[in-house]
Amino acid sequence: MKELIINSIQALVSSEKDTLANMANISAVLNDYFDDINWVGFYRTKGNELILGPFQGKLACVHIPYGKGVCGVAAKEKKTLRVSNVHEFDGHIACDSASNSEIVVPLIKDDQCIGVLDIDSPSFDRFTEEDQIFLENLVDVITPYLTCI
Ligand code: SME
Repeated sequence: MKELIINSIQALVSSEKDTLANMANISAVLNDYFDDINWVGFYRTKGNELILGPFQGKLACVHIPYGKGVCGVAAKEKKTLRVSNVHEFDGHIACDSASNSEIVVPLIKDDQCIGVLDIDSPSFDRFTEEDQIFLENLVDVITPYLTCI
């Protein structure tokens, strides 16, 4: 199943140049694929902050400074953050009060973080190491096709 998802997303992004459209479709595919999540989507790097991109879920905060919240720290440190209890994460930004765990994978292109993929869950400890590997593989596949927007 995971391979099928990665292959179909690769087919999607390799046949369409528009980053916004691709992020929107990837969010939709991941929202269907993962159970027990309440938010999935992208933030894009603009200067020293992240700005909300295409997503599925409830209204979310638009501006996240680099180094703030789970997303901002993942972007600044250019590494995946898998947080089993967001309430214990110093500086966590609560967009949806239903969120209890979160995974954020940075999109690294030419050694720059061009944005992040963020997924939230209402369950604690929702995201496994296997999920992390899957999402990192997915991000490796899609990032070459995405541009800063
Ligand atoms: N919780 C995130 C903010 C983004 S929302 O979850 C959609 C954070 O702490 O960076």
